[in-house]
Amino acid sequence: MRAIELTEFGGPEVLTWGKAADPAPAHGEVLIDVVAAGVNRADLLQRQGRYNPPAGASEIIGLECSGVVAEVGEGVRDWRVGDRVCALLSGGGYAERVVVPAGQVLPVPDGLDLAAAAALPEAAATVWSNLVMTAGLHAGQLVLIHGGGSGIGTHAIQLAVHKGARVAVTAGSAEKLARCAELGASVLINYREDDFVAAVRAEQSGANGPGADIILDNMGAAYLSRNVEALAKHGHLVVIGMQGGVKGELNLGALLSKWGSVHATNVRNRPATGVGSKAEIIAEVRRHVWPLIADGTIVPVVHAELPIAEAAEAHRMLDAADTFGKVVLRVREDAS
Ligand SMILES: NC(=O)c1ccc[n+]([C@@H]2O[C@H](COP(=O)([O-])OP(=O)(O)OC[C@H]3O[C@@H](n4cnc5c(N)ncnc54)[C@H](OP(=O)(O)O)[C@@H]3O)[C@@H](O)[C@H]2O)c1
Repeated sequence: MRAIELTEFGGPEVLTWGKAADPAPAHGEVLIDVVAAGVNRADLLQRQGRYNPPAGASEIIGLECSGVVAEVGEGVRDWRVGDRVCALLSGGGYAERVVVPAGQVLPVPDGLDLAAAAALPEAAATVWSNLVMTAGLHAGQLVLIHGGGSGIGTHAIQLAVHKGARVAVTAGSAEKLARCAELGASVLINYREDDFVAAVRAEQSGANGPGADIILDNMGAAYLSRNVEALAKHGHLVVIGMQGGVKGELNLGALLSKWGSVHATNVRNRPATGVGSKAEIIAEVRRHVWPLIADGTIVPVVHAELPIAEAAEAHRMLDAADTFGKVVLRVREDAS
């Protein structure tokens, strides 16, 4: 099959549309003819040699895809050849074919384009597992989402608003903030000009205020102390990205005085099945988020769709922070 090859680590130019061995589904796995693959920031790190695939995962980049089931392995009961699906992957999405454990596959709702569906699994799994399963998101809370214009942020805003939370976002431009507002964010903070701690603490607060009840953070070390300052009592800081470094100083006194918690999680390294697994998250996403996708309450925000052979250009777009929402790579036409 054809796939994006990574013959050496480096800049976007190392991504070339080459060849790879055809995968075959093992017991419990599904083989997908890929129609589109979502691009994630983690892909940029893998390209640079800073994010190795977990043991046993494909070396090919790509954490999510959509397509059509081509074959099912032994023991797979829930999927049939020809099903229109999208899937959360541990790797392998930038290719014509990929195998994935059956528990990481989701049906594509009627009427949803397969290219748009490729933008969903990673964001839906990351946002649901962190905001709801880890931080217990509920109505009436104030939620701060850093990087509101990211692939993750655009999904998180919509889910939090649907849950009845008030949403504050940070972004690097007035234009991106305006688009976050269209998705339902009501507190708009330009991280280049405004102090997000002051902005969040100035908001009308509930019983635990002032501050944010939940912070979804992509910056890691650079924002650690300010995030703790911005937390409300009983607040949860959930770190999912380390764009601002991995080592920071945590003021335990400040955290303790708020009875707060700091979590740091990822999706990719979770086991396929069992407690805390990808299958567990995907089952919750299917039950709770998928009806919201099907009825249009949450829409995939796709900034651009490029042919897979232009994966390098897609990475340049993310590198340049030129995107609002997701970038999707088209692998083949949808013949379903
Ligand atoms: N832990 C997990 O399982 C998991 C899964 C998926 C993603 N993630 C993480 O989630 C984050 C978003 O991923 P993505 O693929 O959606 O990335 P993306 O679309 O490339 O977005 C990156 C975002 O970072 C924002 N940003 C840059 N500097 C910032 C700053 N100083 N303050 C606040 N925001 C800043 C950018 O905002 P502007 O463009 O407005 O400057 C942009 O929205 C990444 O850190 C990624 O590693 C984690």
